[in-house]
Amino acid sequence: MVQASAPGKCILFGEHAVVYGQPAVAVAIDQRMSVELSLSNDWRIDGMSFHPDRHPHVEALKQRLWDLGPALSIKISGNIPPASGLGSSAALSVAASAALRCARGRQMVDDDWAEGWTAARPGSIYDGPWTSSKGDSVVNGADCVDEDECAILAHAVEAYAQGGRASPLDSSACAHGGCIVLSDKIEDNLNWIYTRSLNGVSWHVHSVDLSNIDDVWLVIGSTGIHAPTSEQVEKVANLIKEQPGKMREIETIGIVSRRGIAALMSGDMESVGRAMSENHLLLRSLGVSCPELEVLISAAAPSSLGVKLTGAGGGGCMIALTRNPKMTSEAIELAGGRTLISKLASDGMKIDNDGGTPLWNPYE
Ligand code: MEV
Repeated sequence: MVQASAPGKCILFGEHAVVYGQPAVAVAIDQRMSVELSLSNDWRIDGMSFHPDRHPHVEALKQRLWDLGPALSIKISGNIPPASGLGSSAALSVAASAALRCARGRQMVDDDWAEGWTAARPGSIYDGPWTSSKGDSVVNGADCVDEDECAILAHAVEAYAQGGRASPLDSSACAHGGCIVLSDKIEDNLNWIYTRSLNGVSWHVHSVDLSNIDDVWLVIGSTGIHAPTSEQVEKVANLIKEQPGKMREIETIGIVSRRGIAALMSGDMESVGRAMSENHLLLRSLGVSCPELEVLISAAAPSSLGVKLTGAGGGGCMIALTRNPKMTSEAIELAGGRTLISKLASDGMKIDNDGGTPLWNPYE
């Protein structure tokens, strides 16, 4: 049995604008998705027959990593509410990529990946599946799983599900954990990990160490309204097509994100909070807030350093940066929201069990 898990994420700055190349910041949260794989007589997901159209992310990863492989029983569990802006689909995709890779092993040639699925190599990585070249050895189990590969595969399937418009923000945060910054340039003062390009937009992906920040929390308030990311991304795209002047909001979000990043780096959480609240006003003017989000945001504001919607909006969740999580959480619950509390930068993807691997050896 193979089991892998990955965290959800909260966007502190820059959602929507990041699709147009503006800088953005996401942190991994304590809530996670877990994927368990075991061999089976037929394809099953959570005990039911597997229908590819009901699980497009898993289907896309199955085609890329398990084409021609034996049937699997897949169990998905976790405490990230779906379609709520907390990266449940990216976390699922990262965990599924990790589990499938762990279950099949990796073919090596001259100490390099024989299959060429590496974030370090440019090329048609989003188009898969690869053509496997002959290798000289195989690495199995947790040792063959790679965060960059899980991030890139998750980005590829997110982009597919969002009609080609997806930044690597969610997938990178859910794969690497911690705090991830995307920017339109390589930032000298941040740790650059890799650069991703899709549909003519490039994002330089960086990580930021927030381990010195320990006296603030995120309180996540859910409206309970399901709001698919693809619809909200399309809504913004249509708005910009009809009113090109709205591109100014997108650019201003970029400026606010930069201010937020500088404040995060210097540990000035009051300024981080102010930038978050400012970011929310710009998102509202892009039409992605809704009355239910506004009620929770107003309730959380008095006890918080900053408040905003997080993720695609249109429902889903808001976040409050607070030094008093109990008070903020109670205020949101009183206003009708369900709350989760998380620290600011949680652990990334993990292999929780690699017993009995490989489940399939495609390299014989
Ligand atoms: C969704 O969590 C974030 C968006 O910016 C979409 C994306 O980055 O792909 C709305």
